Amino acid sequence: MVTKIAVFASGRGSNFREIYKNTRSGFIPAEISLLVSDNPRAGIIPFAEAHSIPVSIIQPKKFSSSHDFGMALLDVLAAQQIEYIVLAGYLKKIPENVVSAFNNRIINIHPALLPAFGGQGMYGKHVHQAVFKAGVKVSGITIHLVNEEYDSGPILLQRAADIADCETPEEIAAAVLKLEHKAFPEAIKLLLENEPEIDGNRVIIRKVHETN
Ligand code: GRF
Repeated sequence: MVTKIAVFASGRGSNFREIYKNTRSGFIPAEISLLVSDNPRAGIIPFAEAHSIPVSIIQPKKFSSSHDFGMALLDVLAAQQIEYIVLAGYLKKIPENVVSAFNNRIINIHPALLPAFGGQGMYGKHVHQAVFKAGVKVSGITIHLVNEEYDSGPILLQRAADIADCETPEEIAAAVLKLEHKAFPEAIKLLLENEPEIDGNRVIIRKVHETN
């Protein structure tokens, strides 16, 4: 039985497209069985529809509590028999009941090297502006398992980008996005093909099986 993943995205979805491409080629041993978005105008929705991927738009503001929002998410995830959740540019906090139901089976990509430049409010261009302002010469990406706090779960994979020659936050964003598109499919494959052992914030990968 093919492993079913849900991808959560709030915007344009360039990572979603890369992940989709890599599931179709067989590099990622899974299929995207659901797109979840909080944003009815997300640019990625028409792409998912055109590729016959079910779409659920669930807006947290429509619920009176994070718990109820989580229950609505859990319902659609169960209906599609989802085993893993991939957060690819998803801007809402994942409710605790979803985190505990999918313990160590939710991953997020953050466009900087955590634990620097993370936490609440640090998303999208805000991250790259902060990186630019700080004058650091290296940025990158962090792909981590999701826990109850923003950007603080165990780190699965990091890649660095030399940004010494970048003259604007937009140039940094472009350099980092290139890394995201390459590394995110690799990280998803790594997670799906192994059972990560978690020791504090450390992820230890012991190979259990390989699909190719
Ligand atoms: C990416 O930079 C991702 O790291 C961040 O939001 C952006 C989403 O881009 N969390 P896209 O929607 O995948 O094009």
